[in-house]
Amino acid sequence: MNTENNHIKTNELVCRKQGELIQNIRGDKPACGLKEDTCRQLIREAIHSLKFSYSPYSEFKVGAALLTKDLKIYTGCNIENAAYSPTNCAERTAFFKAVSEGKMDFQAIAIVGGKDGIITDYCPPCGVCRQVMMEFCNPKKFFVILAKSEADYWIYNLEDMIPMGFGPDNLVQE
Ligand code: THU
Repeated sequence: MNTENNHIKTNELVCRKQGELIQNIRGDKPACGLKEDTCRQLIREAIHSLKFSYSPYSEFKVGAALLTKDLKIYTGCNIENAAYSPTNCAERTAFFKAVSEGKMDFQAIAIVGGKDGIITDYCPPCGVCRQVMMEFCNPKKFFVILAKSEADYWIYNLEDMIPMGFGPDNLVQE
């Protein structure tokens, strides 16, 4: 459900979980800077993507919505395969769509999921998806929104989700 050519609308600068003002899960880092409307829109688009999930084997549907720094949104769903290992997670689908269209600067991703597309819990990204995020995102400045609904979500730093993660900087020789 994109609006205005994938551009997001913005208003006040807050992030909330069930009415409680949060900065991120640990509360000891700088504010994430995401606006509440932005979080809600990303969650809405992630939920919308659940319906495209191709998951006949696990029947676990996942949807993601990735926000670029220039305020475009790329959505993704999980795409399974009869040989199992070629399965692509929703998050990587969103990243690969964006990167394949020349986008390399990202702010945040919202993720939702559940058996048969029914969301009963938060759906954290798998390790492979966290590693893909490390490739393209500054772990201190990229945020992962785990949602049960537009009104019930937590925001995490990528750094907290993949501590001491290996990224492109580790390949640079002094
Ligand atoms: N899945 C995702 O799409 N994202 C994740 O980060 C976790 C797992 C998918 C893969 C598979 O299609 C299904 O969920 C069950 O593992």
